[in-house]
Amino acid sequence: MRNLHAFCSTGDAPWLPAPSAAETSAPGEASAPSRARAPPRLLGFGEVDHTLEKHLQEDWWEDLFDEVYLLTDGDVVEDPAITEREVDLLLQILAGHLPTGACPGSVAGPYHLVDLCCGQGRHALELLRRWPGGLRVTGVDQSATLIGVARERAAAAGATSAAFHVADARAPGALDAAGTPADAVILMGNSLGYSPQSADDSAILRNAAAALRPGGLLVIDVTNGEYMRQNFSPRSWEWLDVPAGGQQSAAPGAGRLAVRSRKLSPCGGMLLSREMVICTGHGLIRDKVYAERMYSQADLDRAAAVHGLVPARPAHFLDGETSARLGADMGMMASRMVLTYCKAAPGEGGTGGV
Ligand SMILES: C[S@@+](CC[C@H](N)C(=O)[O-])C[C@H]1O[C@@H](n2cnc3c(N)ncnc32)[C@H](O)[C@@H]1O
Repeated sequence: MRNLHAFCSTGDAPWLPAPSAAETSAPGEASAPSRARAPPRLLGFGEVDHTLEKHLQEDWWEDLFDEVYLLTDGDVVEDPAITEREVDLLLQILAGHLPTGACPGSVAGPYHLVDLCCGQGRHALELLRRWPGGLRVTGVDQSATLIGVARERAAAAGATSAAFHVADARAPGALDAAGTPADAVILMGNSLGYSPQSADDSAILRNAAAALRPGGLLVIDVTNGEYMRQNFSPRSWEWLDVPAGGQQSAAPGAGRLAVRSRKLSPCGGMLLSREMVICTGHGLIRDKVYAERMYSQADLDRAAAVHGLVPARPAHFLDGETSARLGADMGMMASRMVLTYCKAAPGEGGTGGV
C-alpha cells in the first residue's frame, strides 16, 4: 500500500512526475540522477460541456476503488468515528436476530457475517473489534487494492477470524469462498447501483440471498435516491488536506483538490458525476466519470422480493453524517437508507421485480 500522504511530496505515485534531480538535491550537493523517468501528466477530458455520458465507461468502478478513492472519500470511509456509529447501528439491527446467547461479549457463536463489497474492510474489522470471539467475518470486494488494505489491517489487528477475498459480487458463486451459509450479509456504504444494467444489481442480491441461511439477514446501506435526486450539488470543490477548522495541513504548493460536477441521467434514474483530482504543483491525477442508480426504498423492496428477501424492520435513515473536512461534499453519502431484509424460508417470498 502506497503512503497516501506521499502522493504530492515524493512523486512516488506512477501518475505523478518524479521529482527532478534539482528538486531532490540539497543546495551545494551534486545532482543525483533522476530515480525514475517522469510519466506523462494525465491530460483528462478537458472541458466537457455537460455531456458526461460521453466519457462514462460501462464498468467505471473496476479501477476507481484504489488509493485515490481512499483519499477523496477518506473523510467518510476512513473516519473511525463514522464507522463506529454505523457499526452501532448494525449491532442494534443484528441484536434482535441473533441465535440465543449470541451477542457482543458473549461466547456463543461464531456468528458468520459476510461483508459484501467490503472495500478496505472497515465494517468487518470494527465488528470484530467489538465482538471478539463471537463472530467470523468474510469480506468480498472486486478491488484488489482495497482487499490488500483490508488484509494488512486485519493482520495488524490480529483479527484471525477475518478473511478477505477478491471477487465480483455479480458473478455466480462469488460468495462460495466465504464458506456459506452466513447468518448475515451486509452491503454497506452505497455499494449498489453502479451498473447501467439493473440485472447486475439483481445478481448481487441473488448472491447475497443464496449465501444466507433461512432466517438470515441482509442489511443494505444505500443512497436515498429520492432525496438525492432533489438535493445533489451540481458542482462542488473540496480541499482534501484541510481538516475540521480549516487549518491547512499540506505544505504550501502541495495541496490536493477534488472538483466534481454532477447531473441527472436523461431518464432521471442515475446520477452522473465527474470527479477531477488535482495535486497543486503536479497536475491532474484523476479525471473520471461515474454513474450511480438512485433507488427508493420501494424499488429495493421489490428487487429484494425477487430473491425471497422480505423487509424485516423499518428503514433507518442516515442523514446526519458530516465530514471532518471543512465544507466537504458528502456526495452520495449525504443521505442514506439502511434497509434490513430477512431470507424467507423455502416456499415463502420470491415475488415482484427490479
Ligand atoms: C463506496 S465503496 C464502499 C465500501 C465499503 N462497503 C464501505 O462502506 O466502506 C463501494 C465498494 O463496492 C465495491 N464493488 C462495487 N461493485 C462491486 C462488484 N460487482 N463486486 C464486488 N465489489 C464491488 C467497490 O470495489 C468498492 O469497494
